[in-house]
Amino acid sequence: MSHPIVPYSTDAAEKAAQILSQGGLVAVPTETVYGLAADATDDHAVARIYEAKGRPSFNPLIIHVTGLEMAATYAEISPLAEKLAAAFWPGPLTMVLPVRADSGLSKLVTAGLDTVAIRCPQSEPAQAILAAFGRPFAAPSANPSGGLSPTSAAHVAAGLGAKVDMILDNGPSSVGVESTILAVGETLSLLRPGSITIGQIEKVTDQAVEIKEKSAEILAPGMMESHYAPNALLRLNAKTPASGEEFLGFGPISTPHALNLSPSGDLTEAAANLFAYLHRLDEAAEKIAVAPIPETGLGIAINDRLRRAAAPR
Ligand code: TXA
Ligand code: MG
Repeated sequence: MSHPIVPYSTDAAEKAAQILSQGGLVAVPTETVYGLAADATDDHAVARIYEAKGRPSFNPLIIHVTGLEMAATYAEISPLAEKLAAAFWPGPLTMVLPVRADSGLSKLVTAGLDTVAIRCPQSEPAQAILAAFGRPFAAPSANPSGGLSPTSAAHVAAGLGAKVDMILDNGPSSVGVESTILAVGETLSLLRPGSITIGQIEKVTDQAVEIKEKSAEILAPGMMESHYAPNALLRLNAKTPASGEEFLGFGPISTPHALNLSPSGDLTEAAANLFAYLHRLDEAAEKIAVAPIPETGLGIAINDRLRRAAAPR
């Protein structure tokens, strides 16, 4: 087989759309992480996502759309959802909305729920593929189930390799953590923190956001305790590394040669580096100590991913 990594171009995006329409799998760069995309209306194609990732089938997928108009073909769009889309789309906000009875989506996408998770990505390659394809693709993060999310084409190739028909390369993902997931009904519930914060959502909607993360029910399997897990053991909130540990720093640190998520203490930079640095340290060490990250803004999403990566398994 030819090497599946192809640099992004408009021609490559058209080729990717063609592969999707033939039931194939394409790794698509988005601003959050790389996604493993398949035609959301094709059962066989969606089944290949679950198979490639080794993903439990109760875990539903996010569909990706060009915008509100395409979203309305698949989900009931309330005025509240419209307001959120106007403020945050395209961008890293996923809304969980009532699925339309006539949606034509594969049942494997919603895993039998009466809601569907919809996101409108900002990244140019994702939008170019969607425009050429003309309907949504379903895409979880392009990594083996339970592993670290990929923020580069090389991460995808290392994790999934020949299971993918094409890996579109657009360099490192700019945001670096997965989208914020918000259930939008009469009320708003945060299912997964991301770079769009509760504060931003409450400001736009003038409505309180409930945090659902600790719910016993698995509403979003990203909510399962051990997720995003590296092979190495992680120790969080470490001031300095113990012997045998690699150190992942944040802000000014005195450990020489350690990787630093952001020497200047910038959370946006830290999020963009998070998964790439965890991938690197995971290859280099059995134990990783991670510096404290402030629990504000994007730090909430970063700490969420770190806690899951450190959870017992
Ligand atoms: O940034 C992102 O969202 C990336 C890129 C590729 O778009 N995608 C991503 O997908 O993170 P994934 O599959 O790794 O995470 C999707 C999350 C899962 O935790 C899943 O359980 C939840 O969305 N989800 C999907 N449909 C849902 C639904 N109807 N109700 C509740 N949660 C849902
Ligand atoms: Mg994932």
